[in-house]
Amino acid sequence: MAANYLNLPKSITWNNGTLTLLDQTQLPIKTVFEEQHHIEQVWDSIKQLKVRGAPAIGVAGAYGLVLSLKDKTHLNSRDLLRTIEKNAAYLDSARPTAVNLKWALTRLVELANSLADRPSAEICDRLEQEAMQIHTEDRQLCRGIGAQGLPLIQPNMGILTHCNAGSLATSELGTATAPMYLAHERGISFKVYADETRPLLQGSRLTSWELQQAGIDVTLLCDNMAAHIMSQGLIDLVIVGTDRVAANGDVANKIGTLGVAILANHFNIPFYVACPYSTIDFATAKGDSIVIEERGETEVTHFGLRRTAPDNIQYRNPAFDVTPHHLVTGIITERGIVQAPFESNLQQLYAA
Ligand code: MRU
Repeated sequence: MAANYLNLPKSITWNNGTLTLLDQTQLPIKTVFEEQHHIEQVWDSIKQLKVRGAPAIGVAGAYGLVLSLKDKTHLNSRDLLRTIEKNAAYLDSARPTAVNLKWALTRLVELANSLADRPSAEICDRLEQEAMQIHTEDRQLCRGIGAQGLPLIQPNMGILTHCNAGSLATSELGTATAPMYLAHERGISFKVYADETRPLLQGSRLTSWELQQAGIDVTLLCDNMAAHIMSQGLIDLVIVGTDRVAANGDVANKIGTLGVAILANHFNIPFYVACPYSTIDFATAKGDSIVIEERGETEVTHFGLRRTAPDNIQYRNPAFDVTPHHLVTGIITERGIVQAPFESNLQQLYAA
């Protein structure tokens, strides 16, 4: 079977110092690529979700930091390191929940600090190499997740996913979608149900689009249809991505994931979460300490550009929720599938 996912547009490209992002806010109507010229533009692209998905914002943040150093090679290394730390903190402030952004930026800052005695031009060059390495690694991590998750997909299964943890959210195969792409490539037939994912419709605009482009059998659902579809026995497996896994296995992901996990538990459907090691935050003990991004009003009060709520209505717009680990069947990582007890098993898997 053709590996059609390879023809999907790349969410991020770095070509001889030029950073280009696919503007995901315009998909699936238009495929628009936008060159990024300065750090404020990258911050804004992350904030506005032109680039989105935990691994992708890590990669974009790393390149954004490199971009911000283009005209800084004349600085002495002490001033350069200060600039690097300041710019990393600025980029990290774009979105608080996905730990991959902080993880990638910290990796660059630590590398820069370890090179403090080197000339500034060399420090900048090494950071560029490291950002490219993060990008390449992300591709490999998705492949690893795909290989580990592949045995979960059996012929004729119905698989539900929420939001977009696909190619668009990463550097190639996605996380939740990686086992699906590999299963499809091996000729296994299965059906994916994609929740539309209100308010920003990542499931409808992005997941159903990329799976359809890749030739995978995908059916779009409004979020409130999942319970009904599960009650009809159409779902055998749930796989979602995540923005941050706490040390105890609690999982932050797109708002609505908790509801899906509760439903899966009710209907006795295995609920899996897929992520690379860069999404596991051992420094955060439990899910309730994860900062949940609150977004603006119009995403809730409007449907597209049209207002659908009364004027002056009170609103809430948390972009993520936390699924407690007791609702998680397993976490599919590039090193294997982690099951309860999550805390010790995660630690064991990633012990140095
Ligand atoms: O707000 P978004 O679109 O960045 O949210 C994305 C998600 O919640 C994804 O499921 C998560 O980042 C995993 S992406 C591999």
